[in-house]
Amino acid sequence: MTTMPSSIVLFVIIYLCGLQHPLGAMPTCRLQRNLVQSSQKLLADLGPNFPVHCSPYNVNITFPTSILPAATSTHSQCRKVLWVVHETLNGTREVFSEYNVKEGGVNWNLMKLSTFRNLQKRLLDQGQCLSGSHVLDSYFADITALLQHKHSATCGWMALRRDVLWVLRTVLMEYHGCFI
Ligand SMILES: *[C@@H]1O[C@H](CO)[C@@H](O)[C@H](O)[C@H]1NC(C)=O
Ligand SMILES: *[C@@H]1O[C@H](CO)[C@@H](O)[C@H](O)[C@H]1NC(C)=O
Repeated sequence: MTTMPSSIVLFVIIYLCGLQHPLGAMPTCRLQRNLVQSSQKLLADLGPNFPVHCSPYNVNITFPTSILPAATSTHSQCRKVLWVVHETLNGTREVFSEYNVKEGGVNWNLMKLSTFRNLQKRLLDQGQCLSGSHVLDSYFADITALLQHKHSATCGWMALRRDVLWVLRTVLMEYHGCFI
């Protein structure tokens, strides 16, 4: 009787599973589309759009838009897309916990902001398997540099909101199928 060592059997099984789920395909944890949609809506409803008087600060902030993969309808980019969403929300949560919106002179709807932050927490919990990159670190350093000064804090908040909205809108429009 020939018996295969169980380690080989296990290896073959892992290998076959790997073929069906190549690297870069659906990650093991997913984000709920309706939570992302609600977050986007709450953020959009917080207050007026990015004000013109803040445009000079655009030179101080670079959001690396190229981290979102080129739009395709395949699912193979989903891991990267979800990971960008997670990274964006995690960095945003850090900023909200370290800086005060009211002190920054921003007149946002605080009820909506609080609901947004609750959704953000739920999405970060859902996306726990996505953590671990630092591709937005320099972006968030740009934002906090603005928040640290009284004259630029308001514009820092406005820019953060604009950029997070851009990420959420873009992923909902172009990568709809990556969410559950
Ligand atoms: C924004 O960038 C300008 C031009 O590089 C610089 O002079 C200014 O100090 C920066 N402001 C902040 C708050 O970082
Ligand atoms: C969230 O952001 C903080 C601060 O930038 C970082 O230390 C932490 O590793 C991040 N967590 C996840 C789960 O990515």
